Amino acid sequence: MNILVCGGTGFIGSEFIKNHFKKNPKSKIINLDNLTIGSNIKNIENIKNNSNYKFLKEDIRNESVMSNLIKDVDIVINFAAESHVDRSIANPKPFLDTNILGTYSILEGIRKYDKQFIHVSTDEIYGDAHGKLSFDENSQINPSNPYAATKAAADHLVSSYHRTYGINCITTRCTNNFGPNQFPEKLIPKTIIRSIKNLKVPLYGDGMQIRSWIYVNDHVQAIENLISKGKSGEVYNITAYEEITNKTIVEKILDILKKPHSMIEYVGDRPGHDKRYSINCSKIENQTGWKPQYNFDDALKQTVTWYLENQSWWDPLIDDDTLHPQPWTINSK
Ligand SMILES: NC(=O)c1ccc[n+]([C@@H]2O[C@H](COP(=O)([O-])OP(=O)(O)OC[C@H]3O[C@@H](n4cnc5c(N)ncnc54)[C@H](O)[C@@H]3O)[C@@H](O)[C@H]2O)c1
Repeated sequence: MNILVCGGTGFIGSEFIKNHFKKNPKSKIINLDNLTIGSNIKNIENIKNNSNYKFLKEDIRNESVMSNLIKDVDIVINFAAESHVDRSIANPKPFLDTNILGTYSILEGIRKYDKQFIHVSTDEIYGDAHGKLSFDENSQINPSNPYAATKAAADHLVSSYHRTYGINCITTRCTNNFGPNQFPEKLIPKTIIRSIKNLKVPLYGDGMQIRSWIYVNDHVQAIENLISKGKSGEVYNITAYEEITNKTIVEKILDILKKPHSMIEYVGDRPGHDKRYSINCSKIENQTGWKPQYNFDDALKQTVTWYLENQSWWDPLIDDDTLHPQPWTINSK
């Protein structure tokens, strides 16, 4: 199989490439990434000399480059995105550019050459799940922040291209991921790194926001199942564990690192912060047989251990901005 992976130098895309080669050594993969925030070339260090792998520093918004590449592959998987909600609050424009226009640029190549497309989206497009509500794939889309709104817009574009042009596509909506190689500004790595450095650990608002999580390898395996068993034109939710509050996650990390809970510092809440995300993923389980393989507590311990043992990976990435307690207050225009 010839695959074009967009955003394969980031957290989830790099895990997809490594996992795919482990199980399909004969596949050919082109990794296209413009190496913006969230990316790290070290994430794919161990496969850079694989003769079936090629890296291109390019932008998904470059339509002619995308068209030329899509012509010669079987499938495109798009992980490329501006992915941090806090940054989207500080400065939404790059999110509109990459997440909407970048998806448009890929879709144009897909419809021209009739190739398969996996569009990697997020459960955040559903917005707040009030009470006991859990969203399925037919639930209303109701994004609360600029990041989620741009991802929702891209989802609509994909479904419109399926309806209008009949393109072969699947949209995935996954819950919060964690694991090695996640950029230090996200909740779990930031908590681990600040704790290791004996800095106060910020919690937005009262810390009672509820999320469900998935270990990154389970996410990329779900995508593998959809490549072979998913139905074109369909949307698939992906999630793994029981719902849990941000406060509980942070306390679990402090416990693993044997640090006191008094290191937690409550800071002003993120504007528009969703209180609860909740999705149901029985569709992917029933149609493809996918099930998460990792236990949450074990995977969290494994992740903390990875950050402890790989300080040389994250040290060059951190500055006052990435570890800032309230990053949306930074003027990043
Ligand atoms: N991290 C999560 O918890 C999560 C959950 C659900 C869905 N997702 C989605 O999964 C995808 C990957 O997320 P991630 O956490 O790995 O993000 P990430 O920020 O770690 O990686 C994104 C990658 O895309 C690249 N990129 C950004 N703009 C680009 C452009 N214009 N052209 C080419 N490359 C570009 C970056 O350089 C980076 O390598 C995103 O679409 C995100 O919305 C993430």
